[in-house]
Amino acid sequence: MSKATFDAPANIAFIKYWGARDLEHALPLNPSISMTLENCSSRCTAELLSDGADDEVWLSEPDGGFRRPPQEFEERVRAHLDRLRRWAGKKEKFRIATRNSFPSAAGLASSASGFAALTLATAAALGKEASPAELSRLARESGSGSASRSILGGFVEWRSEGEDSHAVEIADADYWDLRDVIAVVEIGPKAVSSLEGHRRAHTSPYLKTRLELLPERTERVRRGITERDWSLLGPALEEEAVDLHLIAMSSRPPIFYWSPGTVGVLRAVRELRQEGLNAYATMDAGANVHVICDAEAEDHVASRLESLSVVGFVIRDGVGSGPEESPQDLF
Ligand code: DP6
Repeated sequence: MSKATFDAPANIAFIKYWGARDLEHALPLNPSISMTLENCSSRCTAELLSDGADDEVWLSEPDGGFRRPPQEFEERVRAHLDRLRRWAGKKEKFRIATRNSFPSAAGLASSASGFAALTLATAAALGKEASPAELSRLARESGSGSASRSILGGFVEWRSEGEDSHAVEIADADYWDLRDVIAVVEIGPKAVSSLEGHRRAHTSPYLKTRLELLPERTERVRRGITERDWSLLGPALEEEAVDLHLIAMSSRPPIFYWSPGTVGVLRAVRELRQEGLNAYATMDAGANVHVICDAEAEDHVASRLESLSVVGFVIRDGVGSGPEESPQDLF
């Protein structure tokens, strides 16, 4: 029986996917750019089952046990398995188990790493070879569009155009030793899913302005990375984070992801910059703040964030080289 296990990383977007031209296929309105993480990842084992079996989906616990996932997650996994079977022209059913390396209570996006790992493990269990572009396209079609970026390492751009929209590497993991110090200010799942956020983005009167401003901002982030230039990258990534939340807050009905802790961390990051550090903040669809900084600044940034009463704990991460096959199956 064929079985495969893959680890796939989470990623943090510098230019965000927010709003789709075709939400069902996660075809985005704009290109997005992210840094692949090293420590925050998901592991997935996929095993082909013999005839007559049905798909099984399990969450693997740190103590070695297994439990059933929430219904909505299980349905998304089953739908993705159907998609991968159609792609491979196969009918076999699977046993799937998945586990995150980072605390799920941290409310950090786990869908991107989870669906990237699922795509890779299932394709491997089916014995299908595919290019990174093809795997990225397949991961996007899981519905978690940002999973398309988690197929690649280093710094990644998800190109928005075409029906086969997928991500490509723009610089590898060794190109620039950036760090992501994540200030966890709120635990638990976010109140409004990204899926709903994409849907509501179209109701914001400011979406049009966002789309007009994005090409220039995206170019600053691209060049910021390829020229390792903080003066281009830093302000652009912080501007972009605020812009995503501006669209969310001005959607109808509005979505407020920030908590008082978010604002507290943003103020601390400004102070760190006044002290001369390269540290800039970004938030995904949640209250927690990712502080992107130099390797030399990491310790200082982490201890400042840990000293804030609004911060529960801090996760330190860096640039990762992308998914890998693992010899350690989850079952
Ligand atoms: C704010 O539709 O990919 O993180 O399925 O929850 O992973 P999940 O979300 P997805 O939207 C991502 C929204 C974002 C920005 C980004 O990562 O580009």
